[in-house]
Amino acid sequence: MKIVSYGIRQDEQPALKEWQAQHPEVQVQVESELLTPQSATKAKGADGVVTFQQAPYTREVLQALHDNGINKMSLRNVGTDNIDMTAAKELGFQITNVRVYSPNAIAEHAVWLMGRLLRREPEYTEKINNHDLRWAPEIGRELRMQTVGVIGTGHIGQVLIQILKGFGAKVVAYDPYQNAELAKEGLYVDQLDDLYKQADIITIHVPSTPENIHMINAQSLAQMKDHVIIINVARGDLIDTKALIAGLDAGKVAGAGLDVYENEVGVFNEDWHDQAFPDKQLEDLMNRKNVILTPHTAFYTETAVKNMVQISHNDNLKMIQGQQPDNPVQLG
Ligand code: NAD
Ligand code: COI
Repeated sequence: MKIVSYGIRQDEQPALKEWQAQHPEVQVQVESELLTPQSATKAKGADGVVTFQQAPYTREVLQALHDNGINKMSLRNVGTDNIDMTAAKELGFQITNVRVYSPNAIAEHAVWLMGRLLRREPEYTEKINNHDLRWAPEIGRELRMQTVGVIGTGHIGQVLIQILKGFGAKVVAYDPYQNAELAKEGLYVDQLDDLYKQADIITIHVPSTPENIHMINAQSLAQMKDHVIIINVARGDLIDTKALIAGLDAGKVAGAGLDVYENEVGVFNEDWHDQAFPDKQLEDLMNRKNVILTPHTAFYTETAVKNMVQISHNDNLKMIQGQQPDNPVQLG
C-alpha cells in the first residue's frame, strides 16, 4: 500500500515518522510541494493521497489525480471550502478531513486575541518599544465584564464557551443547530440580530459556506453595539473587510482580532520582509493599533499538528483498505 503525502512541512515530520513506525505495511512518499495538476503525477501508482493546503482543489487538480488513478484524498485540516465539490463528486472521489484535531487550539487563540485587545496590548507594546512606561490613557476592560456573542457552537464554539465561562464572561450564542446542553443553560438567542444587540465582543466559528460569506457586513455591523470587538478565527470571507475597516474608522468597532483574511491565500505563511507587501488593505489593517492580525496560526500547535498528520493518514489507510473512515466529507 502506498500513500503520497503532499505539502509535508518540517514540523509535521516527527508525527509522520511516528505514524509510519506504527504502520510498516504502508509506504509513505513524502512530498514537500503542494498538490497541483503538475505534482499530481507523483501520485501515479499510489493508493491514496494526503494533503494540506489553502490553495484550491480545483477540477483541474482533481482530474489530474483521477487521471493518475487516485480517488482517495485525505485532508490534514478541517475546512473543505477550497474543494470543487461538484468535480469531486463527478470524478468519484472519497474525501476525508480531520474534523476534530484540537478545537482548543483555535478556541484558546480566540480568547488570547480578546484578552490582548481588551488590555490594549498593541498600544502598550508600541509605548514600551519607545521607552514610554506610563499607564494612561490605555485603560483596559475585564473579560468577566463583557458579554461575548459566539456565532457557531460546533466543536470550536463549544470549547470556547467553556473557556469564557471560566473567565466569568456572560455568553450569548447563535447557531441554527443548537447544542442540547447549551440550550438547557439558556445561552442561545433566537436570531443573530439579538446577539448583535447584546454582545460587547463577537466571535465567529462557522464554516465558509455560500450563505455565510460576508455575514459580517455593513448591515450587521450597524446592528452591533458601539465599540464592539470582532474576533474572526474561522474564515476570512465571513467578514466584508471593507465594511470592517469602515467600522474601525468610524469608531463603531473598537478592535478586531483576525487570524484569517479574505485574500490570505498566497500571502499568509510567506516571508515578505524584503519584498513589496502585496496587499494594501491588509497592510492598512496590520498598521492599526486596535487590530491584531495573526497569519492563520490559530490551529498551529504541537498537539493539533500531530493529530492532523496522524488522523488524516489513519483515514486514508481506512479508505484504501475498504473500511469506513472516521471523518468522511459529504460531497454536496
Ligand atoms: P463545526 O462544523 O464543528 O461547527 C460549525 C458550526 O457552525 C455548526 O454548529 C453549524 O451549525 C454552525 N453554523 C453554520 N452556519 C451558521 C450561521 N450562519 N450562524 C450560526 N451558526 C452557524 O466546525 P468547527 O470545528 O467548530 O470549526 C468552525 C470553523 O473554524 C471551520 O469551518 C473552519 O473554517 C474554522 N477553522 C479555523 C482554523 C484556524 O486555524 N483559524 C482551524 C480550524 C477551523
Ligand atoms: C482548518 O483546519 O480548516 C484550518 O483553518 C487550518 C489550516 C487550513 C491552516
